[in-house]
Amino acid sequence: MYYSDDIIEEVRQRSPIVDVIGSYVHLTKKGNNYFGLCPFHNEKTGSFSVSPGKQMYHCFGCGAGGNVITFMMEYENLSFQEALQSLADRAGIELPKDDGRQGSREERDQRAVLLAIHKDAAVYYCHVLRSEQGKPGLNYLKQRGVSDEMIRAFGLGFATQHSTALYQYLRSKGYTDKQLTDSGLVTVNERGAHDRFWNRVLFPIMDTNSRVIGFGGRVMGSGEPKYLNSPETRIFDKSRNLYGLNTAKRSREKYLLVCEGYMDVIAMHQAGFTNAVASLGTAFTSQHGMILKRYTEEVILCYDSDGAGQKAALRAIPILKDAGLRVRVLSMTPWKDPDEFIKNLGADEFRERIKNAENAFLYEIRVLRNSFDFNDPDEKSRFFNEAAQRIAGFSNEIERNSYIEAVANRYGIDYGVLRNQVSAIGAREGYVRREAYPERPKTLSGKSRGKDEGIRGTERLVLTGLSEHPEYYPAVRAFLSPGDFSDELYREVAGLLYDQLDHGKMSPGAILDRYVSDEDKCREVSAVFNAVLPEDTTEEEAREAYREAVQRVRENSVREKGKHISDPLELMNYLEEQKKLKENGFKL
Ligand code: GTP
Ligand code: MN
Repeated sequence: MYYSDDIIEEVRQRSPIVDVIGSYVHLTKKGNNYFGLCPFHNEKTGSFSVSPGKQMYHCFGCGAGGNVITFMMEYENLSFQEALQSLADRAGIELPKDDGRQGSREERDQRAVLLAIHKDAAVYYCHVLRSEQGKPGLNYLKQRGVSDEMIRAFGLGFATQHSTALYQYLRSKGYTDKQLTDSGLVTVNERGAHDRFWNRVLFPIMDTNSRVIGFGGRVMGSGEPKYLNSPETRIFDKSRNLYGLNTAKRSREKYLLVCEGYMDVIAMHQAGFTNAVASLGTAFTSQHGMILKRYTEEVILCYDSDGAGQKAALRAIPILKDAGLRVRVLSMTPWKDPDEFIKNLGADEFRERIKNAENAFLYEIRVLRNSFDFNDPDEKSRFFNEAAQRIAGFSNEIERNSYIEAVANRYGIDYGVLRNQVSAIGAREGYVRREAYPERPKTLSGKSRGKDEGIRGTERLVLTGLSEHPEYYPAVRAFLSPGDFSDELYREVAGLLYDQLDHGKMSPGAILDRYVSDEDKCREVSAVFNAVLPEDTTEEEAREAYREAVQRVRENSVREKGKHISDPLELMNYLEEQKKLKENGFKL
């Protein structure tokens, strides 16, 4: 369904952003804006601002930002259409329908249908688990010590041996073969329809808003594969989902526990560690890292103590560090995984292990150490060289020194000797990390930002200023055109803003409609309209800062243009222009 700009506009205008967001987040008025705790990352002081004037929100902490529609999309995990529908319902607006056959399942947005199918399937599987046919599943869970409370909290279910049970149930609810195939829960081919899951205990996988988006199923007994997951679908992206995060995000601990499996998460929650999540066997991705960073500053890895777990931890550590998280690694020895550990040693002992979890770098060094035979002097020195090489990867001297000290102490080498070694490497190759790591997350929109950040900051100030003081517009317009902005996105946004101001209906929130499908761009645009001056700036100072900013943006633009002039006549005109610009300057 395609909605016209007019209808989108109407829905947005009749959905005051403070009212809508205010129904999810406690907001307090401060100046022209409202502030609250950011729902998109974990924080204790409110850096989440909502501006009724701009009809936008922006978090000064995590950079989340957008308009009322993107808020609904992000917060409720809705598609654009669903968000619009939800806001329209709220405002009592009837959205136009495609044609007369409104309401039939095929016409509903596909994602909404998939979510509905998953919800129905989860309810069904829960039901089965509690029925006569569910006995094997329930017995299995009991025998593994899962409490009733956890079975309920995690919505566990059961698929029987009967391989078309779910299919028939969902057909009876009115879904089509096509929809059911799209959900990944059923296959339909020439040999008929089959459920994906049978004879398995089922773990519904939920998004951060507790909506079921897939399932994991553990086979009863020793069949293969031991765990079977839903395939990726329109609503289930494995690289972006962590099992248990919907609950763990509400935990008050300062860290999150990351483990491998469903049963581990449940065992930990049952033992009171409600801040546990699992990456579900699949490789840990940078998206996982970034999602975790929204909710915490520190991750404690609780991977299995076997070789595979160790490998997974070594892979996850740099990804988590790149996401800006502190990382520690918990030792499970002599048990295999958190589930077994807690069953055998109990919650108190696990808490103790959390307290003693090892710094991730020292963990990496310890794994390294185990691959060398210290009885061989040659191997021993190779280990120290490699360790020095890695320590030289810390650009911060204080950090470097404390690792030199820790490694020297632990592995019995003289502090001074190790330090010299590290310094030698640093002098030769610089203090930079050298691991080749393919998945390093890029900066926003993938560009390197360092050097241009100065002028971009000034440009943000200009556009924010315009959105807060539309009365400046006639003067600014006469002096500065959208083409003067250095960044492509900023030029585009400036063009749109100018256009709005020309028509006397300024609304940064409306500009965001263009970017709803691109979260990175939404964040950038929200930053464009939320540049701030220091808090104690007076009104007069702000005006002067604004005047200077406009001047600087124009000067930068002229200077940049000058770099590409080769024609002498053009150059003369250019120098003249530059002179005038300096003399006259921008007046407000
Ligand atoms: P239990 O035997 O039930 O205790 O399993 P576990 O939780 O100890 O699982 P294990 O260490 O074998 O695996 C950890 C996680 O990896 C599981 O929770 C699954 O998410 C995933 N996993 C394990 N085996 C398979 C498999 O055969 N296929 C897939 N897709 N994932 C698996
Ligand atoms: Mn296990």
